[in-house]
Amino acid sequence: MFGKLVNHRVEKNKVYLDFENNKGIVEVINPLVINIFSPLKYQQHYSRAIEELNIENCSIAVENKTSYLEIKTNHLVVKVYDDFKVDFYKIDGTILCEDLREERRPFLRRGTVSVAEDEGHNVEKDFDRHKIEVVKKMFGDEKFYGLGEKTGHLNKRGSYYEMWNTDDPSPHVESHKSLYKSIPFFINLREDSVFGIFFDNTFKSYFDMGKENSEYYYFGADDGNLDYYFIGGECVKDILVNYTELTGKTPLPQMWTLGFHQSRWSYSPESRVREIAKNFREKDIPCDTIHLDIDYMDDFKVFTWDKNRFPDEKKALKELKEDGFKIVTIIDPGVKKEKNYPIYEEGLKNNYFATDKDGVTYVNKVWPGNSVFPDFSDADTRSWWAENQRIMLESGVSGIWNDMNEPASFNGPLPDDVQFKNEGRGTDHREIHNVYGHLMSKATFEGIRKYSGKRPFVITRAAYAGTQKYSTVWTGDNQSFWEHLRMAIPMLLNLSISGISFCGTDVGGFSFDCTSELLSRWVQVGCFTPLFRNHSGSYTRDQEPWAFDEQTLDINRKYIKLRYKLLPYIYDLMWSGENSGLPVMRPLLLHYEKDKEVHEINDEFLFGENILVAPILEQGKTVRTVYLPEGKWIDYWTKEVLEGGTYVIKKAPLDICPIYIKAGSIIPNFPEQNYVGEKEIDQLTLDIYPGDGSYAHFVDDKESYNYRNGEYTLYEFMMNDGKETVINLNIKQNEFKGYETFKIAYNEASVKEVYFNNNKLEFTKQDCSVEFVIPAEKGTIIIR
Ligand code: GLC
Repeated sequence: MFGKLVNHRVEKNKVYLDFENNKGIVEVINPLVINIFSPLKYQQHYSRAIEELNIENCSIAVENKTSYLEIKTNHLVVKVYDDFKVDFYKIDGTILCEDLREERRPFLRRGTVSVAEDEGHNVEKDFDRHKIEVVKKMFGDEKFYGLGEKTGHLNKRGSYYEMWNTDDPSPHVESHKSLYKSIPFFINLREDSVFGIFFDNTFKSYFDMGKENSEYYYFGADDGNLDYYFIGGECVKDILVNYTELTGKTPLPQMWTLGFHQSRWSYSPESRVREIAKNFREKDIPCDTIHLDIDYMDDFKVFTWDKNRFPDEKKALKELKEDGFKIVTIIDPGVKKEKNYPIYEEGLKNNYFATDKDGVTYVNKVWPGNSVFPDFSDADTRSWWAENQRIMLESGVSGIWNDMNEPASFNGPLPDDVQFKNEGRGTDHREIHNVYGHLMSKATFEGIRKYSGKRPFVITRAAYAGTQKYSTVWTGDNQSFWEHLRMAIPMLLNLSISGISFCGTDVGGFSFDCTSELLSRWVQVGCFTPLFRNHSGSYTRDQEPWAFDEQTLDINRKYIKLRYKLLPYIYDLMWSGENSGLPVMRPLLLHYEKDKEVHEINDEFLFGENILVAPILEQGKTVRTVYLPEGKWIDYWTKEVLEGGTYVIKKAPLDICPIYIKAGSIIPNFPEQNYVGEKEIDQLTLDIYPGDGSYAHFVDDKESYNYRNGEYTLYEFMMNDGKETVINLNIKQNEFKGYETFKIAYNEASVKEVYFNNNKLEFTKQDCSVEFVIPAEKGTIIIR
């Protein structure tokens, strides 16, 4: 396709390449990140994922070798050959990634397609050749992670997926090639190397991770530019950090958004919403948020309220807020086509809607019937949409839930030829489809930020790479099946290591009827997913924590309370993730990649670095094996200290989710609260697990952006565990009201003496721990 490499020219960090038939560019973004580009459609990158490409001023060496061009950075060697074949090496000469020189060779399929299809089988066919295609050689020991929200296992090797945002209500199973989100990024992990690839192309794209032939893997797209980033680093963590440097980090949300959310299609009318709220308080279950699904609207018209069901929504939302309940409302993109409906009329007048190829506003059917679709690819439309958020904020709404934004219609995806303005580069639906939800979330985020001044809370179903900057995500319409609880873990872990830290599933499952046992186990997983929301579909059985029996209610209460206890820990994870790009939910391999045993673990995960969760994911099961990676781990429930690097057997009756804390952890705990901010917290508990370790705890107003101007307090703890345990407490930043005291819960019972700044302290003994209180000031704790 490219032909011989005939010429090259170097300009700063860019190497311009002239091939016989095409042009190419190799651009060094920094010594570890290289962009491979060919202007097959547009002369430049038009990234929807990368808002600022920070190009580092670094030295590169370019040398013409006999059969290739060599480009060296301090860390990588890139060799460019004829036909724009590119190989990547570490600076020490180790090969990292090699383009396949031969043609793709799909394995042989025997039999007849039509016969199998006649009986209704969904037959896998040979995958097509794509307009843009990059085929890489497989060395044999590769494992692949990432690719966002996909069905299947954690390791994507041997699987084939497509990136085409899809609303498919049938039960999600491994044959689903695409779901609601398209994140064309993956990590390639081998025994002695690791790298990532981000293929920044919004057209329908294809990822075959060695399915059609185990000797190679490929990615390709229907159109657009050849535009991918090779991302190097020493470990998986580096790759993720470097990827999120490109596409953005998940920002610190308001703290209440990390509490419990209750949803259903739909809580309506107002009296039902109040009843739900009352139940939470009466039944002593913490809850911060209630979601209103489509039935709060007047005839499904976005930015309106049904006045019969919600006669005075402002009053209702104000009163609910006084009791700690924030309301999140769904907003779909489809705008009802109806004369005199202001949103429709305004959009029409200003050409804010997508059109057909003749320039006529495009109409398709969604909840409100015939609807039109805002053109979010256009900055003016996005500003208008952002402006509309004010309507909801003025009603007292605290967050917006963006749904059906693949975009979905009742007639499937929109036709390819629907037209979008695309910031002056008019294009069709094929290019915008995968970023439609992403751009809708961006507009929503910007509107809420502008009109509330607070950190916006947006949830979206459709997403693209980089959506983490604007929105949290949920994994769409799962079912109340055990398979879907199991699938949720690798799915959320791969989303997490694709940059989307703030994610969750519909706890209990959306479609089908949940059971008491399934909800009991699902809430144990939900407790450790960043977005913790119970949601269920219309006409399914009730699924609230109290909808089953006393035992189920108790289990829900236990884990929702545990969540509220852990809120300061989760908030710290979000705060540090805003800088590091590291997610809240982590596959074990993020911290233990040298241990091959963890590469394929689909049923355990880390919650931050310190907590390992190994939930029960099968009906009737009350015991499981748990792999603990190297180091010491403490059983959260029994406080038993276990040596890692091996499997343990854990009994887990219905109310127990196996949880392990890494030795050397300091976990901040809040006192019981019904909702975030209910109590002024003067004393923070530090749940301490002996060992060497450090921890930073962040305190701010929990909602505004003031922390970005330094208005926060940061406590730093450093623990050394030798003959005695020494914990140094430092206050790194002291610009927000912190705590008066820390209650130390030290998980070791054989303590004899405790000192703070050389003063001997009283302590109380529990079964497996001791407790004492220190002032929240700089100093040293000594425990003997
Ligand atoms: C879609 C959403 C679901 C929502 C329903 C009604 O199916 O995925 O969460 O409840 O629409 O709005």
